[in-house]
Amino acid sequence: MKNIAIFASGGGSNFKSIHRNIKLGKIFGKIVLLVSNNSNSGAIKYAKKNNIGTFIMDIVKHSKSEIDEELLIEKLELVNIDLICLAGYLKLLPSKIVRKYRNCILNIHPSLLPRFGGKGFFGMKVHEAVIESGIKESGVTIHFVDEKYDSGKIIIQEKVLVRNNYTPKILSKKILEVEHVLYPKIVKAFCEDKIFWENNNPIIKY
Ligand code: GRF
Repeated sequence: MKNIAIFASGGGSNFKSIHRNIKLGKIFGKIVLLVSNNSNSGAIKYAKKNNIGTFIMDIVKHSKSEIDEELLIEKLELVNIDLICLAGYLKLLPSKIVRKYRNCILNIHPSLLPRFGGKGFFGMKVHEAVIESGIKESGVTIHFVDEKYDSGKIIIQEKVLVRNNYTPKILSKKILEVEHVLYPKIVKAFCEDKIFWENNNPIIKY
């Protein structure tokens, strides 16, 4: 059984979908901590309601301080974290955490990376840029996290067609529907030790 920490800044629909799949017995893991930089987020409210431990990173006062990093690492160690899932977490992870949990941190991004990824591409901004570009295909990427935004090794991508009448809002909804199926599937594979590394690339072997 893997101990999972979810990092989320917003509504947390991906967090909820992973939690739902755990409750249904589909994922052999336990969410032991929800980390957020936003104490008013839907993710925090959901965690509290479901008796999941929370840790709030105060971005205004401490975002870059060593102390916060240490405090977070201490928290993660205390609950014996095996896997960190970023689910709409808008801050860059401290490099110390990336080093300590290398190849054990996942992120989900609402486009086909490397397109429409990197600093500044988050939330609706991604979908607005996709629609603006006129491209006919977007999608979902799940990747391991490294020291930069949206740049770690890709585990899986799934395409979503961008139809002519799509607004950023419609596209976001279509993409979230795919995310809610794909993220639990990859978390499940990780928890069952089914993600392997070959030639420096992650491969899922079912
Ligand atoms: C998702 O679109 C995810 O790909 C991106 O942020 C959004 C988070 O949505 N990283 P939610 O908070 O899980 O609803």
